[in-house]
Amino acid sequence: MNAHRLSFPADFLWGAATAAHQIEGNNINSDWWHREHHPETDLEEPSGDACDSYHRYREDIGLLAGLGLNTYRFSIEWARIEPEQGFVSRAAVDHYRRMVDACHDAGLTPMVTLHHFTVPRWVEALGAWGSRSMPDLFARYTEAVLPVVADGVEWVCTINEPNGIAYPGGTGVNPLKRAGVASGAFLTEQLFKAHQASRSILSSVPGVKSGWAVATQAYHVEPGCESVWRDYGYPRDEHFLELAKGDDFVGVQAYTRTFIGPEGPRGPAPDVEKTLTGWEYFPEAAAFGVRSAWRYAQPTPVLVTENGIATADDRRRIDYTADSLAALHECLTDGIDLRGYLHWSALDNYEWGSFRPTFGLIAVDRTSFRRTVKPSARWLGEVARNGRLDV
Ligand code: NOJ
Repeated sequence: MNAHRLSFPADFLWGAATAAHQIEGNNINSDWWHREHHPETDLEEPSGDACDSYHRYREDIGLLAGLGLNTYRFSIEWARIEPEQGFVSRAAVDHYRRMVDACHDAGLTPMVTLHHFTVPRWVEALGAWGSRSMPDLFARYTEAVLPVVADGVEWVCTINEPNGIAYPGGTGVNPLKRAGVASGAFLTEQLFKAHQASRSILSSVPGVKSGWAVATQAYHVEPGCESVWRDYGYPRDEHFLELAKGDDFVGVQAYTRTFIGPEGPRGPAPDVEKTLTGWEYFPEAAAFGVRSAWRYAQPTPVLVTENGIATADDRRRIDYTADSLAALHECLTDGIDLRGYLHWSALDNYEWGSFRPTFGLIAVDRTSFRRTVKPSARWLGEVARNGRLDV
């Protein structure tokens, strides 16, 4: 065996991921749009037209398929499906069904996320995840979107990064402080109930595999800080991974590592390489997450549902991804049931407050919306087509 050729399973899912609010544009009935346009907004810029993918999804899907990827993960926008309580937009349901069909036509396996951070404004007004009615509302929303997944969608992610939602300061979690009033434990319970209710509805669809996607962190506890970590008050990844045991899969999302110092989690040291999000360049993150998911949820299969890097230097994106995949290959060698790798993100998009951190394999011109495929996209497409990484 040539040690420099790392072969992946023939049925490995190779793809890219996006989320509705970050790429579609004009998500005007959502809590995030509300936050972006609030006079006291804490965000750098609004999402506006984003990548206009609501209209250009066929082009995006065609580009990904043309590169050689075989999977596209995207999310359904609740604020479009149910812009007012009790009103389900037939047209919006049809739109997402057309996206599924476009994936099939292009030869891509669709992976559909039901909830990726945003909720309709009426849900926000009820208190969102802080409201006791949320599990029930989420169940009804799942029923409303059943026609999207009813025929030929194998992979459904119920909730993106539930641990990020339960964590009071997390990304995409707290528009206008809606979740801030509830405790992490209460939010965790709500999220899990919603997840279970949604999974039980999805189980009526033959062939659907459902699970949630956890934001994992490679934690490094500094010497002497073990008790800080032990007593850490917020909901932790491990708990959400454990809750996934018995699901059809568990998604792992990983980007960087976090140190636990005397004050709790801290940012990277000044002298390390940082990405455009200010995170430490740490390509081992995905493998760390996968190992941790396997430790807590096995025999539940694991899927990397997000991994990537915000950088203007596309060669660095290739370096990062190659190192990440090499470490993931070791997970496979060690017998972990890892089913796929979905890169974040297909497109440069709206990173929850700013378009500046560019995570995309494909660049998007901010005024013409013209797509430009980056070398990293061609590189990953080739790895996917060959099912092999040469290192
Ligand atoms: C996690 C989130 O799911 C996604 O929306 C976000 O853009 C990326 N990570 C990068 O921060």
